[in-house]
Amino acid sequence: MQSGQASRTALGAAALRAAHQVLDHGRIFADPLALRILGPDAQALVREAGDDPTRRRLRLFIAVRTRFAEDALAAAVAQGVRQLVVLGAGLDTYAYRASHGDRLRVFEVDHPSTQAWKRERLADAAIPVPSTLTFAPVDFERETLADGLASRGFDPSARTFFTWLGVVPYLTEGAVFSTLAFIAGLPGRAHVVFDYANPPAPGAQAGEAAGDHEALAARVALVGESFKSYYESDALLARLRGAGFRDIEDLGPAQIAARYFPGRGGPPRDRGGHVVHALRI
Ligand SMILES: C[S@@+](CC[C@H](N)C(=O)[O-])C[C@H]1O[C@@H](n2cnc3c(N)ncnc32)[C@H](O)[C@@H]1O
Repeated sequence: MQSGQASRTALGAAALRAAHQVLDHGRIFADPLALRILGPDAQALVREAGDDPTRRRLRLFIAVRTRFAEDALAAAVAQGVRQLVVLGAGLDTYAYRASHGDRLRVFEVDHPSTQAWKRERLADAAIPVPSTLTFAPVDFERETLADGLASRGFDPSARTFFTWLGVVPYLTEGAVFSTLAFIAGLPGRAHVVFDYANPPAPGAQAGEAAGDHEALAARVALVGESFKSYYESDALLARLRGAGFRDIEDLGPAQIAARYFPGRGGPPRDRGGHVVHALRI
């Protein structure tokens, strides 16, 4: 991220969530605040996102990862989880539309510049901040999540759900695994949902998807938020198991296509963006 500036990719992801409401009628993931949080620029941002055919795949992936995370979270809350940490929250709106009353405490953790900008957006859009929400500004590359949460009333012994969407690719491997180690080391039971990408392999990963990925990598580099880490699935899952995570569900392009887009033509790819749910028992 560029120092002192809010994340531009957070705005990009939010624009694609809003575009999903308009262009796909929220079919995968319905978010009644997705447009409102963008303020007066919403329609222009949606138009811009919709005009670029290389962003269609990403728009649907963002809808899928958010739906996957919120479905897993709903199941966990039904089983008694009472604490949620939204890591790298960007303009995520979960905390402002969830209907858990005061049953679920939510901590939004983000880079200080992005979080300050989000709070302005919320105020401008007159979206109320629930009393169950706590903001925790943390730069993952400079401070530990433990320090960021410790002073803000986070209960390490409570069963906790972590969502970490659209962040892992922008962090170094060291920052990613130290965050996972923190989650795995909590005395309470923990869930984590995050997404990652396989390393691009030109030739092997030929076709439109590779072109879309190249376009995205160039776009994020241009705004100072280059991708910093990619993972081979087998190696990543082995490291998650080594850290103590169990019941790992890893959906790659083929599983995502089968679950969320059944009946769509074309051979499913086996490499690309993945979304993972893992449990630390
Ligand atoms: C692509 S956005 C995703 C935002 C949101 N989770 C979503 O899905 O819309 C990336 C997020 O990662 C955060 N981020 C990137 N680098 C970070 C760092 N070093 N420390 C804390 N947050 C970081 C940005 O502030 C931004 O909110």
